[in-house]
Amino acid sequence: MEKQLKILITGATGKSGGAAIDELLQMGYQVRALVHSNDERSEKLTARGVEVFVGDLLNLDEISTAMQSIDTAYFCYPVLVPGVLQATAYFAQAAVENRLKGIVNMSQISAKREAKSNAAQDHWVGEQILNRTGIPVVHLRPTFFDDWFLYIREGIQHDNAIVLPFGEGRWAPVDSADLGRVVAKIATSIEEYAGQVLKLYGPEEFSVFEMSDVISRVLGRTVKYEPVTIEHFFEINSKRAASEHFVQHVTHVADDCINGIFAGTNGLIEMITQRKPTTLSGFFNQNKALFS
Ligand SMILES: NC(=O)c1ccc[n+]([C@@H]2O[C@H](COP(=O)([O-])OP(=O)(O)OC[C@H]3O[C@@H](n4cnc5c(N)ncnc54)[C@H](OP(=O)(O)O)[C@@H]3O)[C@@H](O)[C@H]2O)c1
Repeated sequence: MEKQLKILITGATGKSGGAAIDELLQMGYQVRALVHSNDERSEKLTARGVEVFVGDLLNLDEISTAMQSIDTAYFCYPVLVPGVLQATAYFAQAAVENRLKGIVNMSQISAKREAKSNAAQDHWVGEQILNRTGIPVVHLRPTFFDDWFLYIREGIQHDNAIVLPFGEGRWAPVDSADLGRVVAKIATSIEEYAGQVLKLYGPEEFSVFEMSDVISRVLGRTVKYEPVTIEHFFEINSKRAASEHFVQHVTHVADDCINGIFAGTNGLIEMITQRKPTTLSGFFNQNKALFS
């Protein structure tokens, strides 16, 4: 039987939003998905019984309409393009207009008042704006997602090389599907977590040198880490035409990573989702074909 809460998921065709929808449907909740455009991905959601609303997070009227008769909502804006602060402010205003009962906000571990990355500082300011709505809010601050290895997949596939600008920095890669499950659990029991800022880590912290050993074992061949400068990193990834905003962001979070801001781990994901979070080897096992 469908449960009473109705949850709005933004970033619904993306990684964490998509995973949040999977979990909410399994839990028996009604979901409305805000999608950026109508396409194959949104059609799949409709086919699964999700109410799809096409809208732009940078349009206040659209986001406010998307929130009508919604109980709690997940805010997720991509890091690749600028606009997170405008989108957060519109989301906050729309949430007040629609008297939401709770908001789950995707931020990041490097979100700080003094962050040098524009995106990280904007996430921090965004957290403050959402706090001022008076609506119960939970901020998620994950470390780097496993998905980073998908962005640099070609180097692993063709050159057996993990080329990243993270020096000897350490982090515990977190799986976006685990984050989606966290979003679903919190959005459906917001009062338990209201007001919290949750640092979310994968289960094991590594340097990229150590990650390359794990990855080599799973793929059955030697894959080496090649630490590079930011300039070199974007040179070899130039085909993907990163925005100035994203280059500025990665430049500074690479420093943050090298300076230990991304390090650490904790048991929060397991505590919230009641299941073991995905390990790095688990992620590579699931996606082995993509790296062969
Ligand atoms: N990747 C990491 O390592 C990492 C680490 C910590 C925190 N984060 C945070 O995670 C967030 C991204 O989460 P994610 O990776 O799950 O998302 P994602 O996969 O990048 O998906 C972004 C989603 O937002 C949609 N979208 C883009 N612009 C939109 C707009 N103007 N209006 C409405 N929808 C729009 C996209 O749809 P279309 O594809 O149709 O445009 C897509 O569904 C960022 O805020 C980032 O700071 C990421």
